[in-house]
Amino acid sequence: LAGGIIGSIMALKVQMTALPQRQAISLAFGALAATLVGISEFYRGGELGGIKMTALGFEVMFGSLTVAGSLIAFAKLQELMRGTPFTFKGQNIFNVSLFVATVGVFVYLIFNPDNMTLFFAMVAMAFLFGILLVLPIGAADMPVVMSLMNSYAGLASAATGFALQNRVLIIAGTLDGFSGFILSILMCKAMNRSITNVLFGAFGNTSDTGTVVEGTMREVTAEDVATQLAYARQVVIVPGYGLATAQAQHTVRELAEALGERGVAVKFAVHPVAGRMPGHMNVLLAEANIPYDDLYELEQINPDMAATDVAVVIGANDVVNPDARDNPKSPIAGMPIIEVDKAVQVVVLKRGKGKGFAGIENPLFFKQNTGMLYGDAKASLSKLVQAVQHDGIDEFAELGDLDAAQPHPAPPARVCST
Ligand code: TAP
Repeated sequence: LAGGIIGSIMALKVQMTALPQRQAISLAFGALAATLVGISEFYRGGELGGIKMTALGFEVMFGSLTVAGSLIAFAKLQELMRGTPFTFKGQNIFNVSLFVATVGVFVYLIFNPDNMTLFFAMVAMAFLFGILLVLPIGAADMPVVMSLMNSYAGLASAATGFALQNRVLIIAGTLDGFSGFILSILMCKAMNRSITNVLFGAFGNTSDTGTVVEGTMREVTAEDVATQLAYARQVVIVPGYGLATAQAQHTVRELAEALGERGVAVKFAVHPVAGRMPGHMNVLLAEANIPYDDLYELEQINPDMAATDVAVVIGANDVVNPDARDNPKSPIAGMPIIEVDKAVQVVVLKRGKGKGFAGIENPLFFKQNTGMLYGDAKASLSKLVQAVQHDGIDEFAELGDLDAAQPHPAPPARVCST
């Protein structure tokens, strides 16, 4: 009851943007419970045959690995430590040797289950392995780490079920373990990477990114952007983590509605790892009642980008970074992106020159067809809504450009120069 109350309070109080950290700490708690049950079962002694020892071994190995890995993931997501990979020379060889040694001790214990020192050594080695497994993974690979940890926590629970002969735990743990594993594979596919590459590739190492930045960032005003938007034929909105932190989902719906009333076709492009948890953007946009039919996945929207007059990037960064496509040395090379740089004009709403989760520069912001609208996403969007509904557009009509007062009559470049 006490645990339930504490958990409920934590869940009620957590900010939407802190859900990934919350999930990480939950996984650590779940895995800690499994590990402690395993240790107490071992400590209780009794008939520890090979089969029970096998279940206990899996339980404490997966359990303590997950506790350590989830705590490191928590620290990275909460920015208690840097999100980019920690690497050292020979890391992969060391990790693989540690893993083999841990499994070796486990196999020995199956045949000699009474060795308490080795049992605790195995728990400690698995814990260390969990730390070393997650330390070199960082940046954009965090979603995969989280679903892998989810999978391991489930497998630890399933092993607990075998050790305690509890069918509910076996079934629930197996469901959790395999759904987490399937999700990890889907995440890897979405990022165009293999699991081995994620685990051993130190993805997100920012020491030599090979990024070449040309040009300067061009600041634009809300009025300019509103005019561009109001006279566009098609606008694609790309939401990212910044939309979530600004809680601007309702304001973006207002903007879409205001543009829709002027006859502009508005589409929302949702990247699978935008934000900080799977489906983050879908949840936010659904909360604001944005019709599901207006949401497009990246495979659907990318072919449409060249026909888009204005792409509006709201608090997104890594998921629109053209380096992922163009620069093989980039830490996020190969990750599919929403190709906003192919639109006629791009407008980026962000507060300043802050980097994204991967901690790397984004050449998109320096391109000629990109304008930067600085400020909190919600405040900027409110200004845009107001300007689209009233000021900027009416001024045009007053100037006598009657043609421009009609919905989407002119390409944005002409409207700007006018
Ligand atoms: P990010 O690359 O993290 O960029 C977010 C941008 O939003 C920042 O550059 C920041 O710039 C801006 N921002 C922050 N607060 C803002 C506010 N209040 N108003 C306006 N802008 C604001 O976001 P993304 O493009 O959505 O990419 C997600 C990243 O997180 C990927 O690297 C992904 O792999 C990783 N990740 C994803 C998940 C899942 S499952 N979705 C889980 C963990 C990690 P300023 O500071 O200049 O404002």
